Amino acid sequence: MTVPLFDTATPLEPLREGIDAAIARVLESGRYILGPEVEAFEREFAAHCGARHAVGVANGTDALTIALRAMGVGPGDDVVVPSFTFYASAEAIPPTGARPVFCDIDPESLCVTPETVAAALTPRTKAVVAVDLFGNVAPVREIERLGVPVLEDAAQAAGSTTDDGRPGALGTAATFSFFPSKNLGAFGDGGAITTDDDDVADRCRMLRFHGSYDKTTFAHVGYNSRLDELQAAILRVQLPHLDGWADGRRAAAAHYEAAGLGELVALTRPVAGAHPAWHLYMARHEAIDRIAAALRQAGIGSKPYYRVPAHRQPAMQEWGAGVELPATEDAARTNLAIPMSPVLGAAQAAEVTGVVRQALVGATA
Ligand SMILES: Cc1ncc(COP(=O)(O)O)c(C=O)c1O
Repeated sequence: MTVPLFDTATPLEPLREGIDAAIARVLESGRYILGPEVEAFEREFAAHCGARHAVGVANGTDALTIALRAMGVGPGDDVVVPSFTFYASAEAIPPTGARPVFCDIDPESLCVTPETVAAALTPRTKAVVAVDLFGNVAPVREIERLGVPVLEDAAQAAGSTTDDGRPGALGTAATFSFFPSKNLGAFGDGGAITTDDDDVADRCRMLRFHGSYDKTTFAHVGYNSRLDELQAAILRVQLPHLDGWADGRRAAAAHYEAAGLGELVALTRPVAGAHPAWHLYMARHEAIDRIAAALRQAGIGSKPYYRVPAHRQPAMQEWGAGVELPATEDAARTNLAIPMSPVLGAAQAAEVTGVVRQALVGATA
């Protein structure tokens, strides 16, 4: 049985008619930028997250830079960020004028903790980027108790929940990516910022439109970074299904556990109080290359993530050189994403687990 790493197509099949109708509606309207679909999506997505505001932007990377600037981050400031994340979490910081300061992660949840953040605080720390990695939800409220505002990078965590509320409503602001493979994916690039803070929301709206409040006077050097009407209309069709898909992702994780995968490899531990809609499902093991080879041979998708973590990327040398992050290095070296989707069933989870078991039996023989 072949099992793909992602399955973005099957969950969308029943929505095809609704998506076609949404696209037709936009074409008939003739409005493509910042119109009624974006406004409606912003309202609906904010309500979904439990935040007062959502601001649609062009992608999840712009969302981070714009949100940081809207939170007052600028030249001379430091921003704490994990290194074990997609590069964009760190890349978004220097364009604000601030300096990324890399912190470590918890080795089991793979998210930052109040302790790993505290170890990286400096007198100039203006904000923390807490990444909801792989759909897990970073302990945002506990980190804010350190007295520093948190921007939650929830690019991978649409659909996740916690006992305290959803990603997008936990810190000062949160950012999302609607890249097609994400839990809530557009048919192109897209992103959003959510916040309860009226001033932050206002500044995000201004910055996404060339730094102008009235589209006549340009008060700041901003960005041309907007979610477009077609993507917003497509996302609106999908949003009501996001929670059902999240349940499917949690069920897939439960299938892996029932098949005994956790006895073979280290799985990601949910942060206390979090109910992750797993975006990527990670297996960690010292013999991960052997597992990857066996999966490849069996026609099962898998992929290592962030083998060279952000602080060791060439472009980050100025800020990353000499930084030592042991849990980050371990996770980078030993991880492998295995198939995960809202429709991954028990038989597929058993197949993947069986191949992993065989690979490890072979390793010790
Ligand atoms: C954790 C994280 N942050 C930021 C981004 C950037 O999002 P985008 O690709 O929409 O710019 C991504 C995804 O690509 C991501 O996974």
